Amino acid sequence: MDTKILRNISYGVYLVSSNSDSKDAGCVINTLTQITSENPLVSISLNKENYTNEIIKESHKFIVAIINEKINPNIISTFGFTSSKDTDKFKDFKYDIVGNIKVINEGVCGYLVCEVVNIIDANTHDVIIAKVVDTKKYNDEKEMTYRYYHEVIKGKAPKKAPTYEEVEEPKTTGKYKYVCDLCGYVLETDEELSDDFICPLCGADRSHFIKQ
Ligand SMILES: Cc1cc2nc3c(=O)[nH]c(=O)nc-3n(C[C@H](O)[C@H](O)[C@H](O)COP(=O)(O)O)c2cc1C
Repeated sequence: MDTKILRNISYGVYLVSSNSDSKDAGCVINTLTQITSENPLVSISLNKENYTNEIIKESHKFIVAIINEKINPNIISTFGFTSSKDTDKFKDFKYDIVGNIKVINEGVCGYLVCEVVNIIDANTHDVIIAKVVDTKKYNDEKEMTYRYYHEVIKGKAPKKAPTYEEVEEPKTTGKYKYVCDLCGYVLETDEELSDDFICPLCGADRSHFIKQ
């Protein structure tokens, strides 16, 4: 089966966060869908290995913030390529606390407060259906689409994203070896990295590339 047509499915880009027992978690997703309009229901698809999924299953609530085009790309690389299990993802960014859930308030249009009503097992992922119980709008900035994330931010989706596609590996021999400390991307090259180099996997800037 040729899966190329799947690339024509459109999505937005979101930050989902939750809290259980003083444990904060949050990650980037592209799989938010509105299911009903009256007493709105939404769904998200979360990889079973993501810590955010574990925390949502404990707390039965989460917040989804709608990312806008003005977001600092480091927020996407931190929330999309590291795990809340071993990182405080919120520490370098501005956030509000709603109930007990932290929600990033820079580079987002606003957020939906959600209560889980059902979880459907979908192999590697769980599809979580939730009732929207509150909302907040911060601004009228343009919401980021998945296409914008790929074409303008030059971002990629990691392995745990439902829309993951293999990235072409860089050449395997070279004078210098660099590793991205956010997503682990390895680059071997004969040239020193330039200051404007951007990680092809997670979009992190040059400062995240550590020479081995
Ligand atoms: C653009 C983008 C879209 C993503 N979409 C999803 C998604 O829909 N579902 C998912 O489970 N992970 C998705 N991910 C991957 C998670 O954000 C990533 O695995 C994260 O490190 C999980 O963090 P956690 O362990 O703190 O939950 C996406 C990542 C990016 C960068």
